[in-house]
Amino acid sequence: MLRLDLRNISQARIGPNGIDWTSALEQYAPRLEAAREALWARRSDPQAFLGWIEVPEDTETLRRVLRYRGAQPWVEDLVVLGIGGSALGALAVSAALGRGPVRLHFVDNVEPEPILGLLRSLNPEKTLVNVISKSGSTAETMAAFLAFRRWLEATEDWRRHVVVTTDPTQGLLRPYAEAEGLAVFEVPPAVGGRFSVTSPVGTLPLAFAGVDLESLLAGARKANEQARGELAQNLPAQTALIHHLFAQRGLNIVVLMPYSTRLRYLPDWFVQLHDESLGKLYDREGREVRTGTTAVRAIGTTDQHAQVQLFREGPHDKLVVFVRLENPSEDLTIPAVRGLEGLDYLFGKTFFELLDAEAKATAHALAKAQQPNFTLLLEKLDAYHLGWLLQHLMWQTAYLGELWNINAFDQPGVELGKAYTYALMGRRGYEKLAEELKAEGVV
Ligand code: PA5
Repeated sequence: MLRLDLRNISQARIGPNGIDWTSALEQYAPRLEAAREALWARRSDPQAFLGWIEVPEDTETLRRVLRYRGAQPWVEDLVVLGIGGSALGALAVSAALGRGPVRLHFVDNVEPEPILGLLRSLNPEKTLVNVISKSGSTAETMAAFLAFRRWLEATEDWRRHVVVTTDPTQGLLRPYAEAEGLAVFEVPPAVGGRFSVTSPVGTLPLAFAGVDLESLLAGARKANEQARGELAQNLPAQTALIHHLFAQRGLNIVVLMPYSTRLRYLPDWFVQLHDESLGKLYDREGREVRTGTTAVRAIGTTDQHAQVQLFREGPHDKLVVFVRLENPSEDLTIPAVRGLEGLDYLFGKTFFELLDAEAKATAHALAKAQQPNFTLLLEKLDAYHLGWLLQHLMWQTAYLGELWNINAFDQPGVELGKAYTYALMGRRGYEKLAEELKAEGVV
């Protein structure tokens, strides 16, 4: 079960900053229903990039992934070469649910020292490299692949140590993989990187991490069911509306704060999903709109001792979204120790009780400071509920895109920086830009 606790957005709890939820839902029902219809109607249009809705239904691809994993019992270390949407989903889920025995490593930067650290410490004979790039051309991922490809030449057959995840037709990786006879999985063309966690971009590494993928996809299907349903059950449309209403009130920061160390990379995944999808200069009619709220990471309880001071007493420019687990997977009793009776309020309680109390206490303390917040409650942290939550957040993003009349599925704002990098690195075809950069004093 995924539930919402919306008490701390109400005027009763947070005063004039609050929302009259019943009338907001009533007022926005026609717009949200229109958004739902528009999203469902466009979902089979490849240009709409809504392929992520159908991906959790694709059990045939999942079977292929699991067959491939089963045929590689020799793997001790899996190195994922990918960046942004090609890495963060698997990183978030493996940190939460990974059970081994294969160790996962993510190369999502081009800083030489960590790459050298991996190349020096791993045994190539026991390592599988999964290069993941939808475009098949991202400089960071390609550079890492060149380095690992060379490193794998020390093995008996380097081809056995590489598996490629890329677009079925586009980019440099696909023809290379075919020419070399490498194992290849597809990023469906209508699925953007940050929406691809349930495709082989996520499922292939997660199969090696021992994650229950059938349940992950079943959870994602549950979010689909809600997102298709009536507004009263449509939690993604509801949370999108909350984001919209507080953005309208000028709250331009969104904090995602799971009370779980296992979910420590969930905010990283969400930051990319939210910021890259919703920070847009133009609306669908080409008018300049500059939409977006800035997603920020925090982890409970850790950041109660850091950012919560700002969240309570700093500017009223934030919506805080907590993720709280309703049940632990296992628990630990806090023992009583003679001589430390000053701590007797902890004796015999469990760590989960303390975690839960801290989450509730922080949410209420923020509400007392008129700081709006709401909580996404997960019955427990398992593959089913995490799949549900991830797909919920993807739907929330899609609904926000509809409310703001923008394309949530492109990222034109990152292109110029990429072109400048190519120019600075001397890529053919970028000579004119390199001259421009020189004239502008960049080099
Ligand atoms: O969400 C996105 O589309 C991006 O963050 C991409 O995932 C990222 O830029 C990597 O792209 P690619 O998979 O083409 O290497």
